[in-house]
Amino acid sequence: MNKLELPANSVMQQPSFVYGVATASFQIEGGISDRLACIWDTFCATQGKIADSSNGAIACNHYNNWQADIDLIESLGVDAYRLSISWPRVMNEDSTANEKGLAFYIKVLDALNARNIKPFVTLYHWDLPQHLEDKGGWLNRETAYKFKDYVALVTKAFGDRVHSYATLNEPFCSAYLGYEVGVHAPGKVGKEYGKKAAHHLLLAHGLGMQVLQKNSPHTLNGIVLNFTPCYPETPADKAAANYADDYFNQWYIKPIFDKAYPDIINQLPASQQPEIHEGDFDIIAQPLDFLGINFYTRAIYRTDEQAVFEQLPPPAPTTDIGWEIYPSSFTDLLTDLHARYPLPPVYITENGAAMADTLVDGKVNDLDRLDYYQQHLVAVNHAIEQGVNIHGYFAWSLMDNFEWAEGYLKRFGIVYVDYESQARIIKNSGLAYRDLITSRKNKP
Ligand code: FCB
Repeated sequence: MNKLELPANSVMQQPSFVYGVATASFQIEGGISDRLACIWDTFCATQGKIADSSNGAIACNHYNNWQADIDLIESLGVDAYRLSISWPRVMNEDSTANEKGLAFYIKVLDALNARNIKPFVTLYHWDLPQHLEDKGGWLNRETAYKFKDYVALVTKAFGDRVHSYATLNEPFCSAYLGYEVGVHAPGKVGKEYGKKAAHHLLLAHGLGMQVLQKNSPHTLNGIVLNFTPCYPETPADKAAANYADDYFNQWYIKPIFDKAYPDIINQLPASQQPEIHEGDFDIIAQPLDFLGINFYTRAIYRTDEQAVFEQLPPPAPTTDIGWEIYPSSFTDLLTDLHARYPLPPVYITENGAAMADTLVDGKVNDLDRLDYYQQHLVAVNHAIEQGVNIHGYFAWSLMDNFEWAEGYLKRFGIVYVDYESQARIIKNSGLAYRDLITSRKNKP
């Protein structure tokens, strides 16, 4: 199949359903001489951390190419663009505003609004200023309060230019990958760090939400969480899968709705416990205008005597980054979250696939990625049919970019980037996405 199709009567075929593309500052911008260093600059400079030893110094050079990139976004016919703000670009070390950095984003936001593209702004997509990491980063409770100041600065500067604010992108990745297993910046390793960092991130989210409610009450304010649903290898492994689910997934959503961490917190040794102050859960559990959900794959677990749970290698089929393609778990995830929590309107803020693209005669015929999108759009539609209140869907990503520890080796774009020439070439998946979106707009 060469196009994306949904049932004619689907909510996702209505003009009110929001389709977008997503990026993040560090992954696309470059332009590093105009901003402070962040933890990803430092991590990239550490030998052995990035698969191709690359960094974000140039990336997609979006900092200089932003106008052409917004033309590109417009040409895809999308309703919305999800971007993130680089904290070290807009705030100086003494907490004053970096006016040049703010002016950059204001130009971007104005250009989007002029084209009727809704800006969905993520305030923190992992690029913590290095000077804050030098004081402990997310292991330091103070960082949550620094985040609050940053949110106040940004919201004052941006005024009414933004459609939606998300406080954090995927606190699981920041906390677990960054401070527990160390495969992401800042690369700290230790079971005693993960849940402490997670608690300060969630606190930052709550404090940020309070600022958003005050300074920006008319935007859709919320958080973006990622989920990798956990399945048992056999029925006997159900407890192991549930434990993993609590540890990796529920840990980040339950406090927001239930003012508590999952019960497995009682099984963690004291050294791994977060430091919870009185009133923290009241701050964390701010009402949300929306919940952003990022989904790529599922994981399978078996019981392991020592480690409680062990993750199995993903079975085929997988994408180029090794993640299993298993779309029905997307539907299961959405219906399960809907059953467990009183969800606000949901936006799928990321979904997509890394594939080994080849440019042939100036074209990328990425039927594998197109197939991934087709199956996952249908999975979202199934969840809507089962009552989940989903208002939008963002493809990850607008264009190929710096894929964190994988560097530039993995391509997630619906637009191909030739890093030598910085040319952008819309892949066939991108053309199909455009056609899905624009045919819907043309409906009577
Ligand atoms: C998510 C990140 C995003 C991108 C995708 C592939 O975890 O939010 O920046 O790297 O994975």
